Amino acid sequence: MRGRIGQVRKFGKVGCLDAYEQINLVQSSFSKVKPISDQAAELFYARLFEIAPQVKPMFKGDMVEQGRKLMAMIHTVVNGLKNLDDIVPAAQNLARSHVDYGVQSEHYTYVGEALIYALEQGLAEDFTQPVKQAWIEAYTLLSDVMIAAAEQFEMANKKPLWKRLLKG
Ligand code: HEM
Repeated sequence: MRGRIGQVRKFGKVGCLDAYEQINLVQSSFSKVKPISDQAAELFYARLFEIAPQVKPMFKGDMVEQGRKLMAMIHTVVNGLKNLDDIVPAAQNLARSHVDYGVQSEHYTYVGEALIYALEQGLAEDFTQPVKQAWIEAYTLLSDVMIAAAEQFEMANKKPLWKRLLKG
């Protein structure tokens, strides 16, 4: 796993203060987003559909509800950054359901960009350069886990050609 946040898993709690400082930045900044999480989600989707209009048809449900689910999941991940083993299985499950929605690896870049944009708008002057850097690392970590899980899931479910042909 890349980045300092990813190193928490490798070096444990004592050896990597940098990573812990970054996690603290992510956690304390997210606590400021929580009271405005509906607006943050709205900003997020508006930005996502602006930069990647091709993903819009994949969203079929109510967008306010979807925004709440997204923010709740980000909350879980943010809370679990110091205990990655607790959140990795949930991220892997989420990735598998995303394969069924039609999500592809490259879409994670757009989502990351929209997330950083929404945080930037929501936090204004509190979104300092170190806070931004810490969020980029946390998102990269999460999306790396999800992309790897999705790829494994897709490989495991890929039927050989002859089986697909037999099924018609
Ligand atoms: C770190 C990244 C992401 C997180 C935390 C996240 C979170 C979620 C959550 C919690 C849900 C609710 C349903 C479920 O649990 O399966 C969901 C649904 C969904 N997500 Fe994501 N997601 C992420 C990345 C993406 C990406 C890259 C795309 C591609 C555009 C995407 C598209 C969707 C779609 C299409 C749905 C279903 C919407 C519907 O049913 O209308 N997500 N996501």
